[in-house]
Amino acid sequence: MIKLFSISAISLFFVIGVFWSDTSNSEDSNSVIELLESKGIDYSDKKPNFEIAGVSAEVGEQLFHNGFAQKPNGGKTKKQSKHFVCTSCHNVAKEDPDLSVSDPQARLLYTNERELPFLQGTTMYGAVNRSTYYNGDYKKKYGDLVEPARNDIRNAIQLCAIECAQGRELKEWELESILAYLWTLELNIEDLGLSKEVASNMDVESIKAKYLQSSPATFLPPPSDRKEGSGLIGNSDNGKLIYENSCLHCHYRGEYSFLHLDNSRLSFKHLKRNISKYSRHSLYQVTRWGVPVKSGKRSYMPQYTEERMSKQQLADLRAYIEEQAS
Ligand code: HEC
Ligand code: HEC
Repeated sequence: MIKLFSISAISLFFVIGVFWSDTSNSEDSNSVIELLESKGIDYSDKKPNFEIAGVSAEVGEQLFHNGFAQKPNGGKTKKQSKHFVCTSCHNVAKEDPDLSVSDPQARLLYTNERELPFLQGTTMYGAVNRSTYYNGDYKKKYGDLVEPARNDIRNAIQLCAIECAQGRELKEWELESILAYLWTLELNIEDLGLSKEVASNMDVESIKAKYLQSSPATFLPPPSDRKEGSGLIGNSDNGKLIYENSCLHCHYRGEYSFLHLDNSRLSFKHLKRNISKYSRHSLYQVTRWGVPVKSGKRSYMPQYTEERMSKQQLADLRAYIEEQAS
């Protein structure tokens, strides 16, 4: 009797122990990826290789934000790019209120409330959750370079380091570290507007429908008549948000560009004067086509796709510039 009791007590303890550690794990985890893994989706290819010496999310964070990092055996790495850091063009926080649509106006208001810039590149928040990269018309811009990057986040990071940031190739331990950093920015279940209870009972397709599997990209040409513009009536208050949260992010005090822009009439007059011209100072030209790499000076301005600045928003920006210039 005593023996029997002790056995059942031990096994009861064991069962409770296992059960407890199990639920505490899944209770702790807010990760969308862990949830999908529990439903059979495999993310192992995307996980950073921590066996390479020096790999850590901290190193990745330094590289992403500062362009260089502390080496494991002392000293600093060479700067990745002379012109940019990754945060010149990418946020690292959530920037869309509803992750299942790409709506630049909802994004502008959402990022403005959180004092985040409004940029040409997609946020890295949730990048590891996406399944394809450099989507849509980016194929036109980078051609065959996109092929290996489309389904492979490592190649996407490397492509951006060289082509977007116009910098040197990342070493393997640096690349894995940036990947490790991006894993700290994966989506949480709450980001999908779901509770853990509800999400755990959903099937894979329904969970994936709650966030975009890729960041869409549509290139637009400048309006055919630059004087007339798109014909849309601009809202200058909205244009002010774009000017301050986007243009000034790179141009204020020449942060990432030689062209200095600020809130002076001089800046607005310079921009206004050039809007209707066929020149690289035209608002339409720089936003829709970007500014190409000048020979010998490998800095350039990335274009805004329709998903990163709508036609209406561009009309709003023009209205603000014209209002402030007069
Ligand atoms: C000058 C601007 C610029 C800089 C600097 C830059 N990027 Fe990008 N990046 C872009 C643009 C534009 C895209 C195109 C796709 C998108 O984000 O919509 C992109 C795409 C990406 C993608 C694929 C995202 C997706 O969902 O398609 C990754 C990953 C990425 N960049 C990582 C980096 C890293 C890491 C750095 C720093 C080493 C960096 N980028 C620096 C502009 C930039
Ligand atoms: C991600 C950073 C970034 C953002 C955001 C940005 N620019 Fe630029 N812009 C640049 C860079 C880099 C150049 C390249 C030329 C240089 O450095 O002189 C440039 C060039 C230009 C030029 C041409 C200057 C020249 O010397 O040829 C104009 C005009 C311009 N930008 C206006 C704007 C406006 C208006 C906005 C907001 C809609 C904006 N930029 C947003 C980085 C940026």
